[in-house]
Amino acid sequence: MLAGRHILLAVTGGIAAYKAAELARLLLKSGATVQAAMTPSAARFVGPLTFEALTGRKVALDLFAAEEPGRGHLDLAREADLMVIAPATANCLGKLAAGLADDLVCTTALALKAPLLLCPAMNPRMWEHPAVQANVKLLAERGVEIMEPETGPMAHPREEPGRGRLPEPAAIHDHICRMLPPSGSLSGVTLTVTAGPTREAVDPVRFISNASSGAMGYALAEEARRRGAEVHLVSGPAALPAPPGVDLVRVTGVAHMLEAVQWSLASSQALIMAAAPADFQPRQTAAHKIKKESAGDSFTLELVMAPDILKSLAPLREGRIFIGFALETEEGPAHARRKLHDKNLDLIVLNHPSPAPGAGMGEARIQGALIGRDGTEEALPVMPKLQLAGIILDRLEALLPKHE
Ligand SMILES: Cc1cc2nc3c(=O)[nH]c(=O)nc-3n(C[C@H](O)[C@H](O)[C@H](O)COP(=O)(O)O)c2cc1C
Repeated sequence: MLAGRHILLAVTGGIAAYKAAELARLLLKSGATVQAAMTPSAARFVGPLTFEALTGRKVALDLFAAEEPGRGHLDLAREADLMVIAPATANCLGKLAAGLADDLVCTTALALKAPLLLCPAMNPRMWEHPAVQANVKLLAERGVEIMEPETGPMAHPREEPGRGRLPEPAAIHDHICRMLPPSGSLSGVTLTVTAGPTREAVDPVRFISNASSGAMGYALAEEARRRGAEVHLVSGPAALPAPPGVDLVRVTGVAHMLEAVQWSLASSQALIMAAAPADFQPRQTAAHKIKKESAGDSFTLELVMAPDILKSLAPLREGRIFIGFALETEEGPAHARRKLHDKNLDLIVLNHPSPAPGAGMGEARIQGALIGRDGTEEALPVMPKLQLAGIILDRLEALLPKHE
């Protein structure tokens, strides 16, 4: 996702400095090269060795370290595709707002042409101070990106909770991914992906759902984002973390999923329906919990057809690429071909809920067959869902008009 990107991670002297090590790790994991810089105060909170071990690069610490070629403030500023200061102390915000340059971090920020992201973190009273707020406002007006601190308990148990916590490293990483224009084979493409099951309420505590884990849709979203697409992931209830850089919209019922997809499709060139929305839903949702005592020996639940998402989207098609999934337990190819034509899809991915041990619904691996509109069928072996996501996206790239 961040392959080829060079991130300058500057750490200033706040109690949250330790969280910057995790941020460095996440950025590296996404393929970025990371150069760490620290203020002398920051180096009192976390040892530079931590960042050196993680990044494989010497930490830039001293503005006057002439013996460190390549890590002078001008080199650091020139190399960076983005500079993030996390945590950014009140002191650092004040110096940046005033244009002061008496340490390596602030001097580099002044010389920077690339985007600058500040992640302030401090005691809530410091954060609320009018001087700090005025500095933040001024910096934001100058085009600096500010990730506001979060509300919650402070690092020290005696400190009162409030706004001032550094956002979690994963959230900062995600923010960085969004700030950097994507580059890759799907850059410039906006894609809607659906994932997971839906829940159709029977009463306030019961619902009808299915065994979909959402893993296939999340893998598609992750891989599409890695290729540079802008991705809207519309997900039913799934116990999976949002893939970095992906815009995740959480939904519950099929009607809710349809609404979210309709909204998202307006800005998308393609849709991949990897979700398993309900086919049937209770005719009525009881307002109160249905009591066992009122049911007698048996209980009949009347189901009606749920809205058909792909059919409902037909009027919005307008040249967009639609890819669907068909989960079949019998006569798979025939059902999948019918669905492909009925729903006017460009490609359908036929799969079985349990094709082999450790593969299928709720598993990390899958077996699929790709059936195209021209009738071609490509049977694939059991493979990780991320690998199948790559194959599906290769096909999408070939289907997209004028895609370079
Ligand atoms: C234990 C301790 C914790 C601190 N935590 C913070 C903090 O979370 N945020 C902050 O803005 N300042 C904090 N400070 C104050 C800064 O360390 C101080 O303003 C320092 O001059 C900042 O230097 P720098 O901006 O050059 O890194 C803390 C100081 C101490 C002693």
